[in-house]
Amino acid sequence: MNILILGSGGREHALAWAVMQNPKCDRLIVAPGNAGIAQIASCANLDINDGAAVCVFVEENAIDFVIIGPEAPLAAGVADRLRAAGVLVFGPSQGAAALEASKAFTKSICDAAGAPTAAYGHFHDADAAKAYVRTQGAPIVIKADGLAAGKGVIIAMTQNEALEAVDEMFGGSFGDAGAEVVIEEFMEGEEASFFVLCDGKNVLPIGTAQDHKRVGEGDTGPNTGGMGAYSPAPVLSDAIAERAMTQIIRPTMAEMAARGTPYQGVLYAGLMIKDGQPRLVEYNVRFGDPECQVLMMRLGAQALDLMLSAARGTLDQAKVQWAEDHAMTVVMAAQGYPGSYEKGSRINGLDAIAEDSQHMVFHAGTALQDGVLAATGGRVLNVTARGDTLADAAKRAYGMVEKIDWPGGFFRRDIGWRALK
Ligand code: AMP
Ligand code: GLY
Repeated sequence: MNILILGSGGREHALAWAVMQNPKCDRLIVAPGNAGIAQIASCANLDINDGAAVCVFVEENAIDFVIIGPEAPLAAGVADRLRAAGVLVFGPSQGAAALEASKAFTKSICDAAGAPTAAYGHFHDADAAKAYVRTQGAPIVIKADGLAAGKGVIIAMTQNEALEAVDEMFGGSFGDAGAEVVIEEFMEGEEASFFVLCDGKNVLPIGTAQDHKRVGEGDTGPNTGGMGAYSPAPVLSDAIAERAMTQIIRPTMAEMAARGTPYQGVLYAGLMIKDGQPRLVEYNVRFGDPECQVLMMRLGAQALDLMLSAARGTLDQAKVQWAEDHAMTVVMAAQGYPGSYEKGSRINGLDAIAEDSQHMVFHAGTALQDGVLAATGGRVLNVTARGDTLADAAKRAYGMVEKIDWPGGFFRRDIGWRALK
């Protein structure tokens, strides 16, 4: 079959890498892609948030299956446009993508589904929000309702910080995303990511991972899109995963179906785990980036079959062949990220790395400039390896990092520290 993947990050490189290993894939196009993806698939220039343009591209290129990587096209209704045109697509409808696009929507679904999550209030103006902050005290979490590229969450350690955050959000510093604000109880515990595939009726867990959101070692400094990940996440034991399925995921899926917006695609549940009990931090309607990189390393070619089952509504017949091993990905980012950073610095040494089913460098913000690999984004490379133990995977991944000659980049040396300690 001819397959189109939408997106350009490390997540999409990993998806492309897994899909290409499956004999069902005859031709793969990734739009817009990046320099790493271009080594294994065709890349095409396309406005992936423009549903009409995507439909035309699909028709012209005889695409049989579309996999949507990031949240923006999902929230823009690209999956709906494709389905209306009779195209097989992996990814939720615009209505179902509200599970990521609106934090207030997700909280209301949790209320209706009885899913454990932080206590909250939902506000349309600063005065009411501040009154709520004063009754709750600190620490407290202030969230812009809409999509804010992972930046719309402020964890306020003092009441003053919280009041300032409220003013900032209603003052427009997050644009339309902050027109409504959700204020949440601060949850303590250890965070982990749980990934399930859904076909509107059936739900199939496909793996666990732990991300490292802070830029600095020891989980310090500002939040990023994620500086590294590993899978599986031991904190999300089978028993806790089962609890998350029965208390959070399945009730959410039932509520979505009951509202006429059945969920189809991958659902990424960010969980806070304390004393053996998972609570929902957030949903994302896509694979995590960089969590996808470690999941794809461990799933390999079957990832395509699983995504096809989700798209076709046949997940009840699908089975996951679990890999017994561990995977780790170390993100290399441009100096300055997540603040301002320079573009165009040269990256050398990738040729010295032998890539195989155990070792892969997935590209994020890269491009070829005059035949030389250059960094064009904040997060640039995802250096990924598998091993029999997490320590083996870490040794291999950091061994690969050592071979990469990129003075304009940096990375965290402690990915996996919680599980390795
Ligand atoms: P979100 O965009 O909702 O995932 O929030 C970003 C990050 O903020 C999460 O991954 C958590 O680390 C943290 N966070 C969000 N909500 C809470 C909460 N209620 N309690 C503690 N930490 C939170
Ligand atoms: N790595 C976090 C995310 O994809 O949202």
